[in-house]
Amino acid sequence: MEHNILIIGGTGLVGRTIARILQSRNPHISVFIGGRKGGKTDKDLKIDVTDPSSFQIISDKKINLVILSVNDKADEILRFAIEKGIDYLDITKPTPALVKAYDIAMDQKVGSRIIFSSGWMGGIVPGLVKTLSDSMAAIQDVQLFVYYSVRDLAGESSAHFMAENVAVPFHRYEKNRPVSVKHFLDTEAFDFSFGIGKRNAYNFDVPDLYILNHVERVPDVSVKMTYNSKLITWLLGAFQSLRIFSILSLKERKMIFGSSGSGDQSVFEIVVKGKGGSRKLSLQSVKGQAELTALSAVLHTEELLRNSHENKVYFSHQLHEPLSLMAQLNAYETINIRVTQ
Ligand SMILES: NC(=O)c1ccc[n+]([C@@H]2O[C@H](COP(=O)([O-])OP(=O)(O)OC[C@H]3O[C@@H](n4cnc5c(N)ncnc54)[C@H](OP(=O)(O)O)[C@@H]3O)[C@@H](O)[C@H]2O)c1
Repeated sequence: MEHNILIIGGTGLVGRTIARILQSRNPHISVFIGGRKGGKTDKDLKIDVTDPSSFQIISDKKINLVILSVNDKADEILRFAIEKGIDYLDITKPTPALVKAYDIAMDQKVGSRIIFSSGWMGGIVPGLVKTLSDSMAAIQDVQLFVYYSVRDLAGESSAHFMAENVAVPFHRYEKNRPVSVKHFLDTEAFDFSFGIGKRNAYNFDVPDLYILNHVERVPDVSVKMTYNSKLITWLLGAFQSLRIFSILSLKERKMIFGSSGSGDQSVFEIVVKGKGGSRKLSLQSVKGQAELTALSAVLHTEELLRNSHENKVYFSHQLHEPLSLMAQLNAYETINIRVTQ
């Protein structure tokens, strides 16, 4: 079978990294790049996610899988993929947008694989959680701790997500009840691995909160993050306590979160507590968050190509056998994983 894969937002930081990893591991696949400007080759397609009249080329090029790597607030590409029976993999949605898109997809008869892969680092966290316990039912509590370096590369769209959402309340879960919280509050000390050491971590909204509670039925779920700079982490907490983010304009918030460095490591740690005690998985991406997010998207794509998953709606971790997902991540040169009791 012909494999024609289109990455929309494929000129962006994460999109072009997906293209590089996907093509180098799968030279037989045709990888097309979609963006507003188009390009010089017949693999560069001019597509604007806000303009459905630009989507005809997706059918013309016989695309079988669309990877969405740019914000599509109106879910135009999702609707098009469902209507045309094209496989769809989406790494872009913050929690409220993910819940909306999931409802749209579940409300329709789908004739393709619709994959929501917007969880932290391309939707791999719930899969890794499953490697830490014999059964999901035995897990009482999942905590995700994120270390984010401002020296890491960050695309414009990723930085804008934080600017748009920093003052918006979100939910963590306690005994299956949603608890309303805000970014950068409720400090908690955590000892990060890979030489990072003790840091104060603060509330952080990622779709894994929703997925782990609503889909995987974990009663207690929280996510906290810290920046590489202790001063920046503290300042953001102070800004939130003093409600300064609510006063600043979106443009001003974009200036705060819009910086990109030249590359640094990215680390996250998952602590799982349950009947069998407590276990921790620590993951380091030496090449940072864009590389790991892109690798995850590639692993989901390869899984779709390799195995005949039925046509329906998935969260990306549901495609994988958890230990196989962990082994594939571990096999990648710049990823390190440690599991401790
Ligand atoms: N799930 C995760 O863990 C995770 C991690 C990182 C990032 N992300 C998400 O991944 C997405 C991409 O992030 P990024 O850092 O790669 O962003 P980026 O560097 O800003 O790239 C986005 C690309 O999309 C294209 N684009 C912009 N508007 C478009 C439109 N209306 N139609 C078609 N293409 C358009 C742009 O190219 P043109 O100007 O040529 O159109 C741009 O190169 C974001 O949604 C981000 O939130 C998810």
